[in-house]
Amino acid sequence: MKNDTPLKTIDTFLVGLGNVNRNFLRILEMKGERLAAEYGLAFRIVAIADSSGVAVNATGFDPAMTRRAKEAGTPVRVMAGFQPGVTPAELAATLDCDLVLEASPVNLDHGEPGLSVTRNALQRGIPVVLANKAPLVLAFAELSDLAQSRGAGLAYSATVCGALPVINIGQRDLIAADILHLRGIFNSTSNFVLSEMAAGRDYATALAEAQRRGIAEADPTLDVEGWDTANKLIIIANSFMGIRATLADVTVEGMTHLTPLDLQAAAQRGEMIKLMAKAEALPDGGYQLSVGPTSLPAADFLARCDGWEMGIEVRSDLYGLMYHKIWEREPLPTAAAMLRDAVNLLR
Ligand SMILES: NC(=O)c1ccc[n+]([C@@H]2O[C@H](COP(=O)([O-])OP(=O)(O)OC[C@H]3O[C@@H](n4cnc5c(N)ncnc54)[C@H](OP(=O)(O)O)[C@@H]3O)[C@@H](O)[C@H]2O)c1
Repeated sequence: MKNDTPLKTIDTFLVGLGNVNRNFLRILEMKGERLAAEYGLAFRIVAIADSSGVAVNATGFDPAMTRRAKEAGTPVRVMAGFQPGVTPAELAATLDCDLVLEASPVNLDHGEPGLSVTRNALQRGIPVVLANKAPLVLAFAELSDLAQSRGAGLAYSATVCGALPVINIGQRDLIAADILHLRGIFNSTSNFVLSEMAAGRDYATALAEAQRRGIAEADPTLDVEGWDTANKLIIIANSFMGIRATLADVTVEGMTHLTPLDLQAAAQRGEMIKLMAKAEALPDGGYQLSVGPTSLPAADFLARCDGWEMGIEVRSDLYGLMYHKIWEREPLPTAAAMLRDAVNLLR
């Protein structure tokens, strides 16, 4: 499809140059021409940040060279354009740019650097696309109100189940629905580890495999202790279930106490144990929110979300019972979800 509108250059600030944003650079290498031809957008990376600092180049960092340099172990602080003493949040408050892509690690204590980066960019009317859940988990209402009052886009479909468009479906396609019940497997690291343990393999090897593939959180206790799943449940609850829930409203239990024997005993009963998120509507309003290991009949939709799969089941008063799932074994689809959010905000 050819787009006849003039090409729009999108000056972009990448916060984090880990698995996700390096894959975003890879997508620009693969699809840059197509994004220009079909969507009229040319993403120019004018600033980058990692844990060593920030660098700026108003004429644009080359995506392939930047990605390869970072993959070869070069930190931003030795790249051209390094800005000594400047933090990502300070840069977001001053940089001349059209878009911020935030993919730094989750920090549930203070949300930084993602929270201040997001605040500072939105404050100036600059659209933000998040893969990092922490800013939303800690300050959903503040950030969405700020985005609205400043007329700045805020998109975060990459924060829940990678590329599975759970947030998009919930916000766009469940118009006027009341969610009666929602269940999901939202964390592929823990799901993969559980599937491997059910097959008799050990916990540490399975977790190491998820880390090697770039799927596990920088702090993998977030995955296996259930907090990553709870984060996603909170983002869902706030974005399309009409409630302002926080982590304090979720009962969270992890899966680290489970052994291969527990999983094999469940299999002999015709069941599978899954780390499941659940939201049940309460008769007097609101929801009961929980995350924890749950034994399911082997034929259950979620029991059949195996290994690298994640899935969600949503029952609403208007749209029946929906099932969605994805197989995602590497961070490329999550980076693509950030791209989709950016294109949808900017085209
Ligand atoms: N991986 C996935 O499949 C996936 C899926 C959905 C959502 N997410 C979310 O996306 C985010 C990024 O994930 P990832 O897998 O790319 O993580 P990652 O590989 O650990 O990369 C994190 C990046 O953030 C940088 N960073 C750390 N502290 C920073 C700071 N204070 N200021 C600026 N940059 C900082 C790191 O710098 P260094 O390079 O110097 O260490 C690294 O480049 C996380 O919030 C994660 O929850 C990931």
